[in-house]
Amino acid sequence: MANGADMRTLVVMPTYNEKENLPITVGAVFSYCPDAHVLVVDDNSPDGTGDLAERMAREPVGRTARNEPRLFVLHRTRKNGLGPAYLAGFRWALDRGYEVICEMDMDGSHRPQDLPRLLAAIGGGCADLVIGSRRVPGGRMVDWPWYRDLISRCGSWYARFMLGVNVRDMTAGFRAYRAETLRRMDFDAIESGGYVFQIDMTRRVAAMGGVIREVPIVFEQRARGVSKMNGGIVVEAMARVTRWGLRRLFCRRG
Ligand code: GDD
Ligand code: MN
Repeated sequence: MANGADMRTLVVMPTYNEKENLPITVGAVFSYCPDAHVLVVDDNSPDGTGDLAERMAREPVGRTARNEPRLFVLHRTRKNGLGPAYLAGFRWALDRGYEVICEMDMDGSHRPQDLPRLLAAIGGGCADLVIGSRRVPGGRMVDWPWYRDLISRCGSWYARFMLGVNVRDMTAGFRAYRAETLRRMDFDAIESGGYVFQIDMTRRVAAMGGVIREVPIVFEQRARGVSKMNGGIVVEAMARVTRWGLRRLFCRRG
């Protein structure tokens, strides 16, 4: 199979008020992966992130060396959570025939220099989903507040236990999917709104018999802007994982 660099690759990046991060992160993604395309999925950010992305798409950074477009923007009308933004981006990607579809945060926490390793791992053909993981040897967090680390660790542990999926970083948002993996999924059945979307996707790939590989990444605390994490996101994650887990344990179906 072709290596990651040869496959048509789209990096889907959801944004809500990430204006300061957008030029830095997108510029770095293209400098490490010049052949990849980027789709910004903006939920009508009040700070103008969507307009800035539109302008960048028309500038040289948004075009390849052969002057073809490589930066695209999907505008959504309102802030509607990570899950729906990603699903809209995945549909956009599948409609356009991308072979590898990535997830990545815009705030710099996912280092663009780690992206080539994710692409190499998915391009090797031995995995259906590659997760950039903070929880395998070599992976780590830099400057994350202790309470966020605790929530994330507990969430991952609880999801692994309840769902019987052997992935260390269940909520990770730095990923590469083979398009085929996404094509086989019923997006209409995915109701997760917040970060539990990541757990939901992981359990669905596992249930399909997909091979999931974790590669270590360094996750850095964002330098600009604020996290969109809130209590509702934690409550939704707890409730959904508990429901899926009980159903799995007592009804023998996922
Ligand atoms: N379009 C859209 N809509 N984008 C959103 C929304 C939304 O409702 N909520 C968040 N985002 C975007 C942010 O702008 C950012 O680019 C990315 O999604 C991640 O959001 P953060 O707010 O930076 O997430 P975090 O750092 O608190 O959370 C990290 O940990 C989570 C739990 O482990 C990320 O790695 C998440 O991907 C991960 O699930
Ligand atoms: Mn973040």
